[in-house]
Amino acid sequence: MGQDRPLLVLENLSIGYNAVLASEISARINAGEVIAVLGPSGVGKTTLVRTIAGLIEPIGGRVDLHVDRRGGLGYIPQKLGLVRHASVYHNVNLGARASLPVLQGGSEERKKRVNSALIALGIEEKTTEPVRRLSGGQLRRVATARALAQRPSLLLADEFLSELDHNTVDVVIAAVKEMLDAGTSMVMVEHHEENVALLATRVWLIEDEKFYDFSIDEWRERVGEEE
Ligand SMILES: Nc1ncnc2c1ncn2[C@@H]1O[C@H](COP(=O)(O)OP(=O)(O)O)[C@@H](O)[C@H]1O
Ligand SMILES: [Mg+2]
Repeated sequence: MGQDRPLLVLENLSIGYNAVLASEISARINAGEVIAVLGPSGVGKTTLVRTIAGLIEPIGGRVDLHVDRRGGLGYIPQKLGLVRHASVYHNVNLGARASLPVLQGGSEERKKRVNSALIALGIEEKTTEPVRRLSGGQLRRVATARALAQRPSLLLADEFLSELDHNTVDVVIAAVKEMLDAGTSMVMVEHHEENVALLATRVWLIEDEKFYDFSIDEWRERVGEEE
């Protein structure tokens, strides 16, 4: 396993739109790692995630993704990207279809994945509901279920625990932990220190246009010193 190549390599990456938000970003993700991306609001966390997803061109440097091009990369966008007029089932099935294309059969397996994702997120009673009728927290659970049904090698999750009440956060974390135990690696944008402590194995911090990469122990030490 130690010989496996990393899932993702960032090489001297600069990110931004017209102006550079952060540069000299060099880091990698090995299988099994969970990265928490931290930094003040507006610093470029979502921009980094979108650049990794290939939705924005880097201003400089490289993003090397070594995951299955079909379905290997999962994404829970901060703005969710759900099909609002379609049902909960349809939206979650889009995740299953990303890694198990319809043209290749497998409809039973897709159904199984969708149903177990709906149950894991506690939204099985909303199966036929159009997503536009759901609350903010329910929408976030649908987007998480979609990622669960996809079973990507690398999941990008941008503030996927926001807008959830305490009990629901526990449900979503348990569902995502199961996915991590099954071998998914994750990059998550997350503000709450207790969720970082619960899930992350590394921390990427963006601050004053600079990028820092900490092991979770280095991060704990740093947070401890600040207190
Ligand atoms: N499509 C865009 N075009 C130009 N600037 C953008 C765009 N999207 C975001 N920005 C700007 O880039 C900066 C970083 O945004 P973002 O990555 O969303 O920050 P964060 O996720 O850390 O809060 C902000 O100043 C934001 O206004
Ligand atoms: Mg953001």
